[in-house]
Amino acid sequence: MSRASALNPFRFGVVVDGPFFTDRTTEKAELKQALNSANHIVLISPRRYGKSSLALNVARSTKRPLIYMNLQSATSVTDFANQLLKEVLKAYKFENIRRHLAGLRGSPAFETDMATGAISVYFRPIGKESTSSLEDVFTLIEKLATAKKRPIVILDEFQEAASIDAQLFKKLRSVMQMQQNINYVFIGSEESMMEQIFNSKKSPFYHFGLLMRLARIPKSDFESFVAGGLQDISKHAALIARDIVAFTESHPYYTQLLSYKCFEFLRNTDYDVDTLPLVCSSIVAEQDNNYEKLWNQLNKNQQGILVSLALGAANIQPAKNSTYYSSLKALVKKGLVVKLESYILEDPFFKLWIEKSRR
Ligand SMILES: Nc1ncnc2c1ncn2[C@@H]1O[C@H](COP(=O)(O)OP(=O)(O)O)[C@@H](O)[C@H]1O
Ligand SMILES: [Mg+2]
Repeated sequence: MSRASALNPFRFGVVVDGPFFTDRTTEKAELKQALNSANHIVLISPRRYGKSSLALNVARSTKRPLIYMNLQSATSVTDFANQLLKEVLKAYKFENIRRHLAGLRGSPAFETDMATGAISVYFRPIGKESTSSLEDVFTLIEKLATAKKRPIVILDEFQEAASIDAQLFKKLRSVMQMQQNINYVFIGSEESMMEQIFNSKKSPFYHFGLLMRLARIPKSDFESFVAGGLQDISKHAALIARDIVAFTESHPYYTQLLSYKCFEFLRNTDYDVDTLPLVCSSIVAEQDNNYEKLWNQLNKNQQGILVSLALGAANIQPAKNSTYYSSLKALVKKGLVVKLESYILEDPFFKLWIEKSRR
């Protein structure tokens, strides 16, 4: 195949599976085993580490009924109930669900698409928001479940429930604790909130599931994956792969993004020492507007910490007083800083943007 027409094997910004998904063998096995037990699972990591991809890959491989819902997309309790019900309809035949629908509070309406014959069911928004319809959809799932065919229910970005309705955790917990034949997978990117929900004694979800933390992909595994993808386009694939993974510190999303861009660059240009810096600069230039906006939303203390983390120079280290720690905490909460062996900037391209702005 010629370089001009070769298929780019890298993918970013979406849930990945098949050839775009690599490694995670231990995590897959652990998750699979947990789903084979009566337990629920709590999956935590910073954004874009591959939680949704991992959970969906494993859940699909079990061939069990799967209901997936990202709470980030729900704008109200009724909207949550509607989206969840739609997913239930995808996982089960309408005939099986029909007889249960009459019992749902907030009596759902039906609509049949004349062209396709597809049936949609939804709750009409009512004046005062109530969680009862949503609770009933969760109850419905248990009614459809059997001990032999236990559904997997993935609730992605679960911490968002707090901003949908303050009572939601309490309400959901009281429904879920009675259920026997469902495995819930609670996923979250806001680590401190997820900790609060599942590890705080006062929380309704205290110790409700097995806690799994997803780390970055081991460097050597990710290097082989990237090198494998680049080998059709360059004879320096292994070298480039090593540099890419070093730059991104093995962050799943940024590694795929940078690999994708390198692949495109190498279609028309042979590799040399400037390749990676050029590709990185072009990504930073594309993001310039966003980074500037982001930067201007931060206060001076937060900016100071980012500069010190980006440059690592002794002469710009802020004093480590209480302001420092509260600012650092705020940056972690925003997802801009993550802790590996030490604190680093989450986005290696934002780091480069900061470095470039001070040259
Ligand atoms: N196992 C993996 N192998 C390769 N790339 C991955 C893997 N997991 C995630 N990615 C990359 O990271 C991106 C974000 O993955 P996603 O599952 O959406 O993360 P999260 O749910 O943690 O935010 C994907 O689009 C993909 O580019
Ligand atoms: Mg996700």
